[in-house]
Amino acid sequence: MTPTVSPQQLVAAAQSARRQAHAPYSNYAVGAAVLTQDGEIIPGCNVENASYGGTICAERVALTSAVAQGKRQFSAIAVVTVDGGSPCGLCRQVMCELGAEMDVYISDAAGNFRSTTVRALLPDAFGC
Ligand code: THU
Repeated sequence: MTPTVSPQQLVAAAQSARRQAHAPYSNYAVGAAVLTQDGEIIPGCNVENASYGGTICAERVALTSAVAQGKRQFSAIAVVTVDGGSPCGLCRQVMCELGAEMDVYISDAAGNFRSTTVRALLPDAFGC
C-alpha cells in the first residue's frame, strides 16, 4: 500500500530543508519538499551564487534532484519561506513541466500554509 503523507508532513520536510539553504546574498532562505506518487519525499533548498544568475530556487532543486533519482510521478510540493512567499514564475513553469497536476502547499516559517495547485498558479501555461 502507498504510504500516506499529509500536507503537514510535507510542509515539515520543507521546513527542515530550508535549514540547508545557501542564501548569503538575499538572506531569504527557502525550503521545498516534493512528494512522489509512491510516497517518497525529496527535499530542496535555494542555493545562491556570487554570480547571481547562478542561483537555483528550492523548488527546482527538489524537482531536479527527484528526477536525478529516477522519480517522475509527483503528487505535491511544499515551499517554505519566512513570510509564506509564492513560487517564482520560473519555478511554476518547471513544476508544470514535471508535475502539472501537483498540489502546492505554500507555507511560512511557522508552518501556516495555504493549498493551491500548479494549474492555479500557472494558468494558460505554455507546453504543459
Ligand atoms: N527563491 C526560491 O528559492 N524559490 C522561489 O520560488 C522564489 C525565490 C529564492 C531565490 C533566491 O535565492 C532567494 O529566494 C531570493 O530571491
